Amino acid sequence: MPSFAAIVALAAASAITRTRASITRPAHPTHCIVNSVASAANLSNCTSVDIHAFDVPAGETITIAAAPGASVAMAGDITFLQTNATGPLITFQTTDILFNGHRHKIDGNGPLYWDGQGTNGGVAKPHPFVKFKGSGVFTDVTVLNSPAQAVSVGTTGPTIIRSVLVNNSAGNAGNLGHNTDGFDISASNLTLSGCVVDNQDDCIAINSGRALVIEDMTCVGSHGISIGSIATNKSVSDVRISRNTVRGGLYGLRIKVDAVAVNASVSNVLYDSNTVSGITEFGVLITQSYPNDDTIPGTGAPISGISFLGGRTHVSVDTDAFTVVVDCGACSGIWDFSDLHATGGNGSRIAPDNARIF
Ligand SMILES: *[C@@H]1O[C@H](CO)[C@@H](O)[C@H](O)[C@H]1NC(C)=O
Ligand SMILES: *[C@@H]1O[C@H](CO)[C@@H](O)[C@H](O)[C@H]1NC(C)=O
Ligand SMILES: *[C@@H]1O[C@H](CO)[C@@H](O)[C@H](O)[C@H]1NC(C)=O
Ligand SMILES: *[C@@H]1O[C@H](CO)[C@@H](O)[C@H](O)[C@H]1NC(C)=O
Ligand SMILES: *[C@@H]1O[C@H](CO)[C@@H](O)[C@H](O)[C@H]1NC(C)=O
Ligand SMILES: *[C@@H]1O[C@H](CO)[C@@H](O)[C@H](O)[C@H]1NC(C)=O
Ligand SMILES: *[C@@H]1O[C@H](CO)[C@@H](O)[C@H](O)[C@H]1NC(C)=O
Ligand SMILES: *[C@@H]1O[C@H](CO)[C@@H](O)[C@H](O)[C@H]1NC(C)=O
Repeated sequence: MPSFAAIVALAAASAITRTRASITRPAHPTHCIVNSVASAANLSNCTSVDIHAFDVPAGETITIAAAPGASVAMAGDITFLQTNATGPLITFQTTDILFNGHRHKIDGNGPLYWDGQGTNGGVAKPHPFVKFKGSGVFTDVTVLNSPAQAVSVGTTGPTIIRSVLVNNSAGNAGNLGHNTDGFDISASNLTLSGCVVDNQDDCIAINSGRALVIEDMTCVGSHGISIGSIATNKSVSDVRISRNTVRGGLYGLRIKVDAVAVNASVSNVLYDSNTVSGITEFGVLITQSYPNDDTIPGTGAPISGISFLGGRTHVSVDTDAFTVVVDCGACSGIWDFSDLHATGGNGSRIAPDNARIF
């Protein structure tokens, strides 16, 4: 009779076999080198890929579409020369990828485009710069100087993004960097962990999805960690925002719902153990007046179940900034702010038209 340990091992092995069998894999392990646009053209047989340093010429874009389960590693930087191509300039579209950037850079040459106008006008800027599709694990890469929005996450299976640095700090000079969102997320079953974003717009903006964890992030000079803006037909639910640090910038923690949105919602959001400091407008802002901060809220996209619990979240704001503002037209469920500690500035305001009183 087999031992208990052997039975467990057998059970585990058959579970893996079943998972693996459900995806089409190449017959043989194939190692591929990417060192040019042409060499990235068809990676469908590649079970492992090494990316060596190369420049991407004007007009070209890259898609890393390797075999399901592939390991993809960077051994040098990818630099995008000034281009009229529209974004994304590089797309990762591999199921169950194991991507390790080994701290190399994906460089968008942002300063060649930055004019203070972002995607609202001026020079055309390819955006987003980097797109994560597929699923799996993305770690240890630097996304440098994106022309506008940096990383768009549209993964379609369980995914972890860890230790990614989005560095647009050069865009602070002369206020030239604009709309340089760190991570724009439309995805479910996603963990974003231990990344650093230094930029001039949202650090993270969650536009739709469920089962999301945002933890151990550091946001510098940004517009903070946002859920939204929530547009018509978009919903976000079951989000945990834990142990993040937001330093400086206009906003700290925000939920922004378009005033005109319908058939949309935000539900079940838990904030714990975050540290927010040096904010110049709103430490915490929950609004259904977007694009305004706090005016006449809409009612077509309800917000329910927002709590600060399970570990103190500290918020401190500058003179003239608000600590906590809630601007609700349609809010419901349990809102428990027991573990929110907010200080400084002009204090908090619950708009007169707010549906709830704290
Ligand atoms: C890539 O190569 C695979 C296998 O050789 C082939 O089936 C597939 O059609 C190719 N895809 C493209 C986009 O060329
Ligand atoms: C993929 O592998 C098959 C079988 O070995 C081969 O015929 C085909 O040319 C390969 N495709 C690519 C894009 O390398
Ligand atoms: C982009 O398009 C403009 C207008 O057609 C052209 O002058 C410029 O050279 C192009 N830039 C690049 C990098 O291809
Ligand atoms: C997320 O997980 C749920 C529950 O396991 C599953 O039903 C859904 O298909 C998953 N979606 C994605 C995009 O991973
Ligand atoms: C970000 O990039 C700038 C150059 O634009 C560099 O000086 C700085 O060291 C980088 N920051 C980090 C944390 O790597
Ligand atoms: C509401 O949004 C969902 C998700 O986008 C969509 O499937 C559904 O058709 C929408 N319903 C209406 C009435 O527009
Ligand atoms: C919302 O979804 C409905 C139903 O699918 C569609 O008819 C409508 O155009 C969508 N609205 C927007 C703004 O996407
Ligand atoms: C904050 O309060 C000060 C003093 O009352 C006032 O001058 C300032 O306008 C207020 N700031 C905001 C954003 O309301």
